[in-house]
Amino acid sequence: MQKRKLGGSGPEVSAIGLGCMGLNHHRGPALNNEDAVSLLRAAFDCGITLFDTAEIYGPYTNEGIVGEALEPIRDDVVIATKFGFRDGRPGNGLDSRPQSIRRMVEASLFRLKTDRIDILYQHRVDPDVPMPDVAGAVRDLIEEGKVLHFGLSEADDQSIRLAHAVQSVAVLQSEYSLWWRKPEDSVLSTVEELSIGFVSYSPLGRGFLSGTMGESTNFDAPNDQRKTNPYLAPANRAANQPIIDAIQSVAKEKNSTAAQIAIAWLLARKPWIVPIPGTTKIHRLEENVAAAAIEFSQEEMDKIDNVFSTITPRGDRYATAPRPQAQR
Ligand SMILES: NC(=O)c1ccc[n+]([C@@H]2O[C@H](COP(=O)([O-])OP(=O)(O)OC[C@H]3O[C@@H](n4cnc5c(N)ncnc54)[C@H](OP(=O)(O)O)[C@@H]3O)[C@@H](O)[C@H]2O)c1
Repeated sequence: MQKRKLGGSGPEVSAIGLGCMGLNHHRGPALNNEDAVSLLRAAFDCGITLFDTAEIYGPYTNEGIVGEALEPIRDDVVIATKFGFRDGRPGNGLDSRPQSIRRMVEASLFRLKTDRIDILYQHRVDPDVPMPDVAGAVRDLIEEGKVLHFGLSEADDQSIRLAHAVQSVAVLQSEYSLWWRKPEDSVLSTVEELSIGFVSYSPLGRGFLSGTMGESTNFDAPNDQRKTNPYLAPANRAANQPIIDAIQSVAKEKNSTAAQIAIAWLLARKPWIVPIPGTTKIHRLEENVAAAAIEFSQEEMDKIDNVFSTITPRGDRYATAPRPQAQR
C-alpha cells in the first residue's frame, strides 16, 4: 500500500490504518484473543502499518491485544494510543493532569509490550488542565524517548494552537467522513497551516456508510455503543438513506463498494489525511485496504460534493453533550 506522511513532523504510515477498538470494545461481540491477533497480523500483511488503540478500549485489554500481535513486528509498525480519562473509563470523567499522563503512559507501554509509543494522543481536551501543561508533560516524555509524536483527538482550533506552541503536535485525530464533515469548518485549515497530519476516525460512519445496515440491524450486544449514537437510531437511519444511495451510486460508477468509496473519498481530500476504518473481519479488511487504489478526478470530487450539499444528515453523533468531569 502507498505510504503517507502525517504532516510535517509526524511519522510515515500506510495510507489506510487500522482502528483496533472494535476488536473488543463498543462494536458488538469481541473477537477472542487468537482471532484478534490474527486479524492484526493479517492487516500488516495487507500493508497496514498504523494501528490505533486507546487506554479506554476494553478498558486496557485492547492495548494488550495490540501489544501481543505487534511485538514480533514492532519496528515495522506505528502504534498510536490515547490517554485522558480517569481510570480508563470515560464515565469517570477526564483526567489529563501531568502526573496522570505519566502514569498512564508507563502502564500503556507495559501493555503494549514496547519501550516507546509512536503517537500519543490526548483523547479529549480536559478543560480543567491548561493545554500548555498537557503539552509540557508530553514534551518531557518525548525527551525521555518514551513517546515519539504528540497527537490530539477532537481538539478545537485554540487547543491545537496552545498545545503546538509548547510541543509540536504531529497528528490530530477526529471524526471525519462523508456524513460528518465538521472538521471542514476550520480545524482542517488549522492543521494544514501548522503542518499537522490528520487521522480520520469512524471513516465508515461506524459502519453505516458501507450501506450494509438494514432495517433489521440492531446493536443489541451489551457492548455495542452504536445504540447510543442518535444518527444510527432506526428512524434516523431511514431518514439518512439518501446518504447511502448517493455513495452507492458513486460506487457503481467506480466499480467498487460503498465502504471503499467512503475511504477513498477521505484519501482524495488531502495527501496528509489517513483514515483508520475498523473491522473484525478479514474479508472486510481486504476490501477496505483496496480503497487505497481508488482515485477520483476533480470532476468526480465536485460531483460528489454537489450531491452531498443537497443532503442534510439527521441525528447527532453522540447522545450526550459534554462528558462528566473528574472529581478533583
Ligand atoms: N479518537 C476517538 O475518539 C475515536 C472514536 C471512535 C473511534 N476511534 C478509532 O477509529 C476506529 C474506527 O472507528 P469506528 O469503529 O467507530 O468506525 P468505522 O471504522 O467507521 O466503522 C467500523 C464498523 O464498520 C464495519 N465495517 C468495517 N468495514 C466494513 C466494510 N467494508 N463493509 C461493511 N461494514 C464494515 C465494522 O463491522 P465489522 O467488524 O463487522 O466488519 C465496524 O462495526 C476505531 O477502531 C478507533 O481506533 C477513535
